[in-house]
Parts: sequence; structure tokens; C-alpha cells
Amino acid sequence: MRNLNQDNITDAVRQSFAGTPDARLKEIMDALVRHLHAFARDVKLTEIEWSQGIAFLTGVGHITNDVRQEFILFSDVLGLSMLTVAMNNDKPKGCTEATVFGPFHTDNAPHYALGGDVANGAKGIPCKVTGTVKNLDGTGIAGAHIEVWQSDDEGLYDVQRGDLTHAQGRGILNADTNGAFHFQSILAAPYPIPHDGPVGAMLSATGRHPWRPAHLHFMIKAPGFETLITHIFRDGDPYLDSDAVFGVRETLIKDWTPQADGSYCLDCDFVLADKRT
Ligand code: BEZ
Ligand code: FE
Repeated sequence: MRNLNQDNITDAVRQSFAGTPDARLKEIMDALVRHLHAFARDVKLTEIEWSQGIAFLTGVGHITNDVRQEFILFSDVLGLSMLTVAMNNDKPKGCTEATVFGPFHTDNAPHYALGGDVANGAKGIPCKVTGTVKNLDGTGIAGAHIEVWQSDDEGLYDVQRGDLTHAQGRGILNADTNGAFHFQSILAAPYPIPHDGPVGAMLSATGRHPWRPAHLHFMIKAPGFETLITHIFRDGDPYLDSDAVFGVRETLIKDWTPQADGSYCLDCDFVLADKRT
């Protein structure tokens, strides 16, 4: 391993991982080295560009804390998060599709009885959400655990508002014995992903916008079924075809129907896949 040059360094680095005891780790490290070196060769990476890349990743690390995960945001805007979701959630036909989790879920959302108002003071046009959680045969799943979270009409999640002391726009409910649920919330609005850090700078340097189309997040769990992490998008949203994180699936776009009193209704059913054995 001396006098390595641009022609033989890749094999030497791969060889250095050849003794990795864990077979999967060995496979991942070998592929990482091959693809990373191929990328550098492909673009003929200069030393200045290498330094800029390191500075970018350093910035991503510096802005990351308990409530701001810039590495996940970087993965999201590169489509890596959605690619990973798509590769690992190939559900049977008829099941509700999964999409990105995003950084705004919290573990301690308040519980509500069916019919409760999960907005809990979040500003927005009132919207009633109804639906049923079913299995592939169409039978309702009694008591399914449903978590929902969304931004307010200014496009902010409660966790982005430093002045808030209670949860808004998020809640946990249980479906009834027929798998049906209903709750009150607000109309979802499009919003920009956090873009005041290195990922935002990368988006603007590349002429991309940070916007996500309006959506309501769901995480649904029931014993014997795969957990479903998904959103319902709002039909007609201007960003459906340019989601900054590539999460839109046609089957997840629904009508959010205006009512005579100015409020909205959303009806959305979910079909869970049986747990893989
Ligand atoms: C979200 O939908 O909450 C989200 C997803 C990816 C990046 C930022 C936000
Ligand atoms: Fe979101």
C-alpha cells in the first residue's frame, strides 16, 4: 500500500475494509467507497470543491440540534429519504402508500376523544377530517392508533414557534370499533421547509424552491399490521409537482371540500398492510 495513485487507490481502500466482520457493513462500506470515488472521478473534483463540500457538511453539523435536523433535511432535498421510504414500503396493491416522515413529529402529542379539535388554538380555516382505517379486505380495524400533525395557516408547526407552551395542530386518537375516526382541525397550507441554513443555501444556489404542498401527516398503528407513515395532500396545491422533498404520490392527493359556512371537510380512508412475518 505505497505510492498509491488515482488508478489504484480505490482498490486499496476497498481492500482495507475486506476484513470487516459484519457482512452487511462490509457490503455498505465497499459500495460507499466505489460510488464516492466514481463520483469524484466523474466530476473531476478539484481541491477547492472538496473543501467547499467539507465546509457545507460542517455547516450542516453546526446547525443541527435537538429540534433542527439539517442532515435529514439534506437527505430529504436530495430525494434520499423518499428513495429509502419507497424501497422499504413496497406494500401490496390496495394498501395506502407511505411517504416521508419529516422532522416535525413529536412523541408526546396530546390524546383526543373522537371529534376533538387537534388544532387546539392553531390558526387556520376550520376543517373536519373523517375516515376509516381498514385492512386489505375492507374490514375496519377497531381501535387503530392514529397520530396526526400539521402546520398552521402561516406554514409553521407548533415546535417551530418558540413562544408556545402547548401542542397545537397535532394529536393522537383511537378509531372506533368499526375503524372509523373523525376530528376537527384546520385546513393545511403549503409551507417552505426550514431554509435559513446550509440546505436552504444549496437550494437557492441551484435555483430550487423550498416549498412543500399542503398536507396533513398521519402515522397509523394497529397490532398485526405494518405501521403506516404517510400524508394526505390537498388537490389543486401549486406545489404538488415540485415538492422540495419529492414526497407526493398521486394516490395520496384528496379533495378538501369547501362547505357553505366557509369551513372544509376532508374524508380519507387508510388501508394497512398485514405485518410481514
Ligand atoms: C414535513 O412534511 O414535515 C417535512 C418533510 C421533510 C422536510 C421538512 C418537512
Ligand atoms: Fe409536513
